[in-house]
Amino acid sequence: MSNPRQPAYPVNPMFTNRWSPRALTGEAITREQLFTVLEAARWAPSAYNYQPWRFIYALRDTAQWDPIFNGLREGNRTWVKDGSALVVLASAKNAQFPGAAAPGPNAWHSFDTGAAWLSMAFQAMHMGLVAHALAGFEPDQIRAATGLPDDYAIDAVIVIGKQGDKAKLPEVFQQREAPNDRRPLSATAMEGKFSA
Ligand SMILES: Cc1cc2nc3c(=O)[nH]c(=O)nc-3n(C[C@H](O)[C@H](O)[C@H](O)COP(=O)(O)O)c2cc1C
Repeated sequence: MSNPRQPAYPVNPMFTNRWSPRALTGEAITREQLFTVLEAARWAPSAYNYQPWRFIYALRDTAQWDPIFNGLREGNRTWVKDGSALVVLASAKNAQFPGAAAPGPNAWHSFDTGAAWLSMAFQAMHMGLVAHALAGFEPDQIRAATGLPDDYAIDAVIVIGKQGDKAKLPEVFQQREAPNDRRPLSATAMEGKFSA
């Protein structure tokens, strides 16, 4: 299969080399490895440096794994079972920014937490690991499993693992187990005014 990831401009290859495989080996990673990935996310930028993100993690083969894993939708559970760590990415919905008289809604809580996620993904890749974001989960179940208060949003669940053989995936996922493409930049970048 030809690689669809041909950058139109000379970007650092890290941007096109990162992708989200589903085939994982089921091997453990160390707490040190997980914390190295989380450490990268800690340095993400955020509005007023508020750092709204929180990382609630579970390593495989620990008591914390099942309650979070069971909150994932079935389609994800078929392959996330071979992950090495799960991270619930949550963010504080409110903040008291400098100069504000009282706490109020932080419009950027998910935007900032998205930056933290991508830092995680690049650090994982740098360590020869895979990080794959998931929206396919039951929010109420994840909230109950983690004890997350209502004033925190669940932005995503991240599975971190070691890339494995795609032959072990269900057929439907085997066909999709390759880096995907992007629409051209000309359809995304607009000079001065929006155009559809
Ligand atoms: C917020 C978010 C939620 C996602 N949810 C899922 C998911 O539930 N299951 C899944 O298999 N992939 C999920 N993905 C992976 C995307 O499908 C993938 O990132 C996208 O197709 C781009 O591919 P790439 O990451 O390989 O470049 C999610 C990605 C993001 C960023």
